[in-house]
Amino acid sequence: MIELYLDTADIEQVKRFKQCLPLKGVTTNPSILASAGTGLNEVLTDLAQVLGPNARFHAQVVSTSVAGMVEEAKQIHQLPYDMVVKVPATETGLAAIKQIKKDGILVLATAIYSAQQGFMAALCGADYLAPYVNRIDAMGTNGVGVVADLQYLLNQHGLASKILAASFKNTQQVMDVMKLGIGAITLPVDVAAQMFAHPAVQPAVEQFSKDWHEAFGNKLSFES
Ligand code: E4P
Repeated sequence: MIELYLDTADIEQVKRFKQCLPLKGVTTNPSILASAGTGLNEVLTDLAQVLGPNARFHAQVVSTSVAGMVEEAKQIHQLPYDMVVKVPATETGLAAIKQIKKDGILVLATAIYSAQQGFMAALCGADYLAPYVNRIDAMGTNGVGVVADLQYLLNQHGLASKILAASFKNTQQVMDVMKLGIGAITLPVDVAAQMFAHPAVQPAVEQFSKDWHEAFGNKLSFES
């Protein structure tokens, strides 16, 4: 089954979506944490309380050197949760990923804007690859196309890396990448809510209720 994540540090929204979606866990990035004004340790403590011991969390290094990223990855890995270390798939990041994987730490290569960049990260051993679908679209190219090419390359070369598609602004982008058979996806809260919203749903449910009460009053189905 595809792994479904929320891309947020908003605990209340995680509580909300935990109730109605099969969340595998939560992804964050430095911008998300900065905008929440909450550090990684505090967010993880709260998230773990909400999602329980089987949840997986993806947290990004902020170091800018290979040695720094490797050391930071080790520290993130030692946190008492199921952690995946996010490393930007830059030249420096790819060098770090090669070293981090020697320690068997789970790694997500992030900030992927092209299929070839993602493929290099996969060859370096990244467990997850995060192409930024909407950001690629916003640059005038084709985010879904990048995901399709990357999934094709992974299949062709028998690589086990999972695409964790990221950066969405609408459900069409989500549907288009899910149809490609990717292994994981992370949704911002607003797009997650749109996944089961449709203007016709509530009127349909209200009509059922009206018809029922007119025929059977306050009886429940099994009482009728
Ligand atoms: C995930 O790895 C990214 O941090 C995130 O999904 C980017 O999303 P945005 O383009 O909406 O900021």
